[in-house]
This record gives sequence, C-alpha cells and structure tokens, in this order.
Amino acid sequence: MGSPAEMARATRVPGVAQPGVVVEKTFVMIKPDAVGRRLCGELIGRYERKGLRLAGLKMQVISRELAERHYAEHVGKPFYQGLLDFVTSGPSIQMVWEGPNAVETVRKMNGATDCQKADVGTIRGDFGMNTRNNVVHASDSAETAEREIKLYFSDNELWDYPMPDGHWLE
Ligand code: CMP
Repeated sequence: MGSPAEMARATRVPGVAQPGVVVEKTFVMIKPDAVGRRLCGELIGRYERKGLRLAGLKMQVISRELAERHYAEHVGKPFYQGLLDFVTSGPSIQMVWEGPNAVETVRKMNGATDCQKADVGTIRGDFGMNTRNNVVHASDSAETAEREIKLYFSDNELWDYPMPDGHWLE
C-alpha cells in the first residue's frame, strides 16, 4: 500500500450521503478587538478543528472606504459610525474558510451578534463583550459570502489544496 493518506482512502467507509450539504466558501474577519486581545490563534484553531479548510488569509488595517463598502447595508443605523470607527481602529484579519455548509457552520460557531446573548461555547459567547465589539464577522448567506470574498481577495489569493484527512471531512 502507498502513503498513509492513500491507505486511509483505501480503507475508508463510504459516508452516508448528506442531503442539503453543499461545499462552499465563507468570509470571516477577526476584528480589531480580538487581534488586540491575542485571540487570533484560538479563533483560527476553532475553525481548523471543525474541519474547515483555510483558503485565504490576510491582515490589514482596513480603510474607511473599504469598511463603508463592506457594511453598506447598515448606512443610517444608529450604530453605523461607531461600527466604522471600530473596524478601522486597528489591524484585523480577513479569511476565507471552505467546507460543508461553511456559511451556516461558521455563523453557528460565532454565535449571536449581541455577545451578552450569545450561547456559551460559541466564539462570541466565550469571548465577546457587547454588540459592537463582537470579536468576529462572518457572511450571513452564500450570496453575501461571494460579495465579501471579492471585496477583500482576488482569485490568485485563494488556495485549493488537499488535506490528508479530507476523506473524513466531507
Ligand atoms: P457583524 O457581524 O460584523 O455585522 C454588523 C456589525 O455591526 C455587527 O457585527 C456589530 O459589530 C455591529 N452592530 C450590530 N448591531 C449593533 C448595535 N445594535 N450596536 C452596535 N453595533 C452593532
């Protein structure tokens, strides 16, 4: 037999077909509060341990213009200016994660927007402080994911590669 990965594939028990599961990408941002609180490793580790595949990653202080484009749907809301101030206040990390039902999976892992209401065990429930400083952002639908990924990444910044345990993660 060949490599460990080949052996694992050869001995694999075929998975039960999962209706409604679609392999998709989602956009995730680790916000300036989480970067400043040294939570990046913890948060990236959670998405990794779930079995999602990191397809892209960068770190930057996002410009006001980029923040305005990202959060255009919130223009005029009472928290809008505060949100822009917050997300541009320091470095943040932008990522693309890929996997089965990645959009919904990551939203569940992140928890409710209001960290005081987020369930214990979710990222916001475990680490978040309030409704604005809520540690992470993730796309709320496949359409939003497509738009947000394009906002932060070009095609040649996204990576496709095999994972040795990929046969367990379908
Ligand atoms: P996010 O998931 O990035 O989507 C929009 C963001 O606006 C949200 O997380 C919060 O950071 C912020 N936000 C939403 N509602 C409020 C609110 N009521 N007060 C302050 N900030 C908010």
